[in-house]
Amino acid sequence: MTEKDFIPSPYTTGKTEGKVTYKSPSNIALVKYWGKKEHQIPANPSISFTLDTCATTTTVSYKKLEDTASDFSFDLLFEGRPKEDFKPKISTFLKRTEPYLPFIKDYHFTIETSNSFPHSSGIASSASGMSALALCLMELERELTPNMDTDFFNRKASFLARLGSGSACRSIHGNLMQWGAHKDTRNSSDLFAIKYPYKVHQVFKNFQDTILLVDKGSKQVSSSLGHNLMHDHPFAEKRFDQAHKNLTKLKKVFEEGDLSEFIKIVEGEALTLHAMMMTSMPYFILMKPNTLEIINKIWAFRASSKTHVCFTLDAGANVHVLYPEREKEKVYQFINNELVAYCENGQYICDQIGNGAEKL
Ligand code: PMV
Repeated sequence: MTEKDFIPSPYTTGKTEGKVTYKSPSNIALVKYWGKKEHQIPANPSISFTLDTCATTTTVSYKKLEDTASDFSFDLLFEGRPKEDFKPKISTFLKRTEPYLPFIKDYHFTIETSNSFPHSSGIASSASGMSALALCLMELERELTPNMDTDFFNRKASFLARLGSGSACRSIHGNLMQWGAHKDTRNSSDLFAIKYPYKVHQVFKNFQDTILLVDKGSKQVSSSLGHNLMHDHPFAEKRFDQAHKNLTKLKKVFEEGDLSEFIKIVEGEALTLHAMMMTSMPYFILMKPNTLEIINKIWAFRASSKTHVCFTLDAGANVHVLYPEREKEKVYQFINNELVAYCENGQYICDQIGNGAEKL
C-alpha cells in the first residue's frame, strides 16, 4: 500500500453531529524505533507489546460547521479542564492528517481526554493519546463511508496515529505489533503497524510489565529531538541494521518461547537505545543512578532465582520490568522487597500485555 491508498474518494453520505469514545493503550517496544525520515517514516522496524492498564480515553464530539473553516476548529479538555499547551501538538497532527481526512475543516471538534496513569509519571502518553484520537476520527470517516472494511479501518487508524507519534501506530491492536518494513516479516510496512503475523508461544501471550517510576520529572529529551539526533549519528547505520537483525532473530524466539534469547535481545535493545543517546552530539544520559541500581538487582536476582525477569527502557529513567505470568509471584515479591525502594515516592504501575484499543 502507498500513502495514496489512504486518500478517500468523495464521501457519499453526510453527518451533522455526533460523539465517539475510544480507550487506547500505551505500548512498550522490544525492538526500539529510534530515528526517522520525513513524514514519520521509521529509520528501522520495531516491535512492541501492547499494554493493558496504561491507557488514554478520548471522546470526540463533532458538529458540522456552516462553512468550511480556514483553520482547524477544536477545543481540548484534559482531565476535564481546558489544556491550551496540548493544542499545538493536536494542530500539527490535524494538519498532517488533512490530506487523508478531507472533512477535518468541515467540523468543530471537542476533544476530551484523560489518562489512566498520572500525567507526571514520566510515562509517554503520546502513543495512547494519538491512537485514541486517530480512532475517533476514523469513526467519523466510517460514518461518511458506509461499508468501510474493518481491516482498512484499522490500518488507516494506525496510519493516522503514526502521523501524530510514530510509536502510536502500534497501539491500535494487541498484543504484539510490528511497524516498519522488514524483509522477513510478511505484509510489514513503514506506513502502519500490523499484528505480528507468525506463531507466538503461549509464554509471551500473558507477559507482565511492572513499570518502576524512577524519575517522574518531565522528559529531558523530547522524542522528536531524540529521533533527529540519529541523522548525523556515527553509529546510525549499524544500529538500524541491528534492529532488522534482531527482528529476524525474534521470529524463532517467539515461535519456540525461548526466554533466554528473548532477554538478550530485549535488554540489548534497551541499552543500545541509551547508548545511541550517550553517543550523539549533543549527548545525553537519561538513566539515573537508581535505573542502574535496579538493572543490577534484576541481573543478580535472575541469576540466583533462575527466573526470566528482564528489563527494558524507554527514552527516560523509568524501568519496565518484564516477566512471564507463571513467575509472577516470585518476581512480584522481589520487586516489592528490592526494587520499590528505588522508585520516586515508591511508585510503580502493574501492567501486562493487552489486546489493543476498544470503542466505549
Ligand atoms: O513515538 P515517539 O516519537 O515518541 O518515539 C518513541 C521512541 C521509543 O519509545 C524510545 C521507542 C519505541 O519504539 O517506542
